[in-house]
Amino acid sequence: MAQKPSGRFEGEGLEGIKVSQTEVCFIDGGGPDRAAKLLYRGYNIHDLAVQSSYEETVHLLLYGTLPTRSQLDDLRRKLGGMRALPPEVLKFLQSLPRTAKPMDVLRTAVSALSFSDPRSDDVSVEVAREKGLRLVAQFGTIMAAWDRVRSGKVPVPPDPELGHAANFLLMQRGQKADDLESRALDVCLVLHAEHDFNASTFSARVTIATLTDFYSAITSAVGTLKGPLHGGANEGVMKNLNEIGTPDKVEGWVQKQFAAKQKIMGFGHRVYKTEDPRATHLRKMSLELGKRRGNTTLYDMSIAMEGAVKREKGLSPNVDFYSATVYHAIGLPLDLFTPIFAVSRIAGWSAHVIEQLSNNRLIRPLSEYVGAAERPYLPVEKR
Ligand SMILES: CC(C)(COP(=O)(O)OP(=O)(O)OC[C@H]1O[C@@H](n2cnc3c(N)ncnc32)[C@H](O)[C@@H]1OP(=O)(O)O)[C@@H](O)C(=O)NCCC(=O)NCCS
Repeated sequence: MAQKPSGRFEGEGLEGIKVSQTEVCFIDGGGPDRAAKLLYRGYNIHDLAVQSSYEETVHLLLYGTLPTRSQLDDLRRKLGGMRALPPEVLKFLQSLPRTAKPMDVLRTAVSALSFSDPRSDDVSVEVAREKGLRLVAQFGTIMAAWDRVRSGKVPVPPDPELGHAANFLLMQRGQKADDLESRALDVCLVLHAEHDFNASTFSARVTIATLTDFYSAITSAVGTLKGPLHGGANEGVMKNLNEIGTPDKVEGWVQKQFAAKQKIMGFGHRVYKTEDPRATHLRKMSLELGKRRGNTTLYDMSIAMEGAVKREKGLSPNVDFYSATVYHAIGLPLDLFTPIFAVSRIAGWSAHVIEQLSNNRLIRPLSEYVGAAERPYLPVEKR
């Protein structure tokens, strides 16, 4: 295999390799003179962010089309009716140490949901779609319930009349959020719902391709998303901003990071070679929400960091950069940032699991062996 100047071999990390065909998502990573593009089943993310809702996006991803009015009403009713957790899962949450990290709780709770699904091992496409919808409905409930249980509060039951985002905020806070906050979270959910063969989606597809159960595939995906190079980056962004403190300290902090050869969370992307189209919306929302709170310090720091990182390394912000300050402005605790990503991305994972099951083939790549040449086996006494 050819070595690149960086010392990596061609295709390492599956860079530039197409492993399958998909109808779910299209990404054009763009370039210095060309904007990047992101489409969910042919619809531009810019249109979806401004005009759609998370429920519409879920219909688009799971059924393949934007819903008609009656399909949308049906889906809302269905999701509203599926939000409550099985009592044993709620009990399980209540039995956990309060220090358990939300992503670890989510990963284990998804796995536990299989116990109450009599069709857990059914890998037909229709049943997979039902499971996907149920998990879309319940991911938010798990995280909101855990956030309350760990602080000694009683979980708030879901309100089937509310939209997905507004209901999540109600369950997490115990009181209704205002329209601006609910809409901001709804847009975040739309923007994070799907992203082609990213690491967590790929792990879900690899897992389901063995024809194991849906819950195992999604458990793989949650564990993969948690990593700081993937969905965990949004929490890293917020920690960095908190550590820096004020806009005037950003430049020096960035220089120090680069001098120490540290990566800066929220920047760079395997596919985008220019601005991530999702960041365009999140940047705007971060400013709007900051202004509304009467404090744009975090936004001002973000802009300063964006400028410094672009100038020094030519890297643009990815989805995790401005989503951090948006979540913070909505009042979400830092360690729920990555779980919120999962609360949205469960729609994309489910769409990909369904697509994989519709035309399945085991995913089994090769590696280039660079270990020892064949050698004689010595019994333990002779080594
Ligand atoms: C997203 C990411 C994992 C993509 O990784 P990748 O395609 O494997 O790219 P690499 O990590 O090999 O980076 C390529 C080069 O850019 C640099 N780079 C990439 N992202 C960087 C960052 N956030 N900060 C500083 N340098 C970065 C690397 O150090 C490397 O430089 P080198 O060639 O001089 O060694 C990477 O950009 C990253 O780690 N970003 C920070 C984490 C993050 O925000 N993740 C969320 C992604 S949506």
